[in-house]
Amino acid sequence: KKIKIKVPATVANLVCGFDILGMAIDAPYDIMEFQLLDRPEIIINHTDHFGLPEEPSKNVAGIVLLKIQEHLALENGFKVTIHKNIKPGSGLGSSAASAAGAAFGANVLLGNILSQDEMIHYAMFGEELASGVRHADNIAPCIYGGITLVKSSAPIDIIPLNTPNLFVVAVHPQVEVKTSDARQILKKDILLKDAVKQWGNIAGLVAGIQNNDFNLIGRSLHDCIVEPVRSILIPQFDKIKAKSMELGALGGGISGSGPSIFMLAEKEETAKKIAESMKSMYDEIEIKSFVYLSKIN
Ligand code: HSE
Repeated sequence: KKIKIKVPATVANLVCGFDILGMAIDAPYDIMEFQLLDRPEIIINHTDHFGLPEEPSKNVAGIVLLKIQEHLALENGFKVTIHKNIKPGSGLGSSAASAAGAAFGANVLLGNILSQDEMIHYAMFGEELASGVRHADNIAPCIYGGITLVKSSAPIDIIPLNTPNLFVVAVHPQVEVKTSDARQILKKDILLKDAVKQWGNIAGLVAGIQNNDFNLIGRSLHDCIVEPVRSILIPQFDKIKAKSMELGALGGGISGSGPSIFMLAEKEETAKKIAESMKSMYDEIEIKSFVYLSKIN
């Protein structure tokens, strides 16, 4: 039995919703091929040159399959070939795609025995291996599609939200920002006045998403807690944000833990202009970058 699946990139946090909000986009995406084996072996192959480990216990997809195999006491194994296009370390949910894809693919081969939340449960082992934290804000939209709210990750309580008809532009500059480092630099305590601002924005963003109120979405895409600390790690961050807003973006910020930056736009024409300006701002300082224009998916 063999299947082939397409696994989307995801933008976590959506600026103010650190660890709780995320959205799936239609580009870039990975392709994963699965084969059910009649022996309890896990085989992982990559067709890319990112140098990711292929030993199952050290591989994000491998660990998810090992956990599924162990918990369900399976006598079967899986052979997985990963064609990775979502660059590892981009902040576009590369590890989540491998983890969620592994859980999803295994579930199809096993006859759809797992619920979406059970797939998320297993996929979080992959995120834990990649970043040391069992966060579900990339995995949940990867499994559910569209935009999701992780109301709680233990116990898993995922709220799928509406999918506004918006364009997403993401730029990935070739600088390294490790999720584990980008988490370590965050302050552990926050001021009540900052928390009040932040939950006002999160509530506003969720209301805007549910009501297709683009103006409210734009007004709510602010982060006074995480972005000021992390944006220092991303060259041209302030300039790109300011220029994108000038070109008509609704708003945006760091994608996941960076270094990618994303912007939302109502019109394709605006999104294209933002994409060009992002690229040229990295060309200016001789940093190679990749730009993706997509929709929330
Ligand atoms: N919510 C996580 C973070 C996403 O911002 O650290 C990491 O991909």
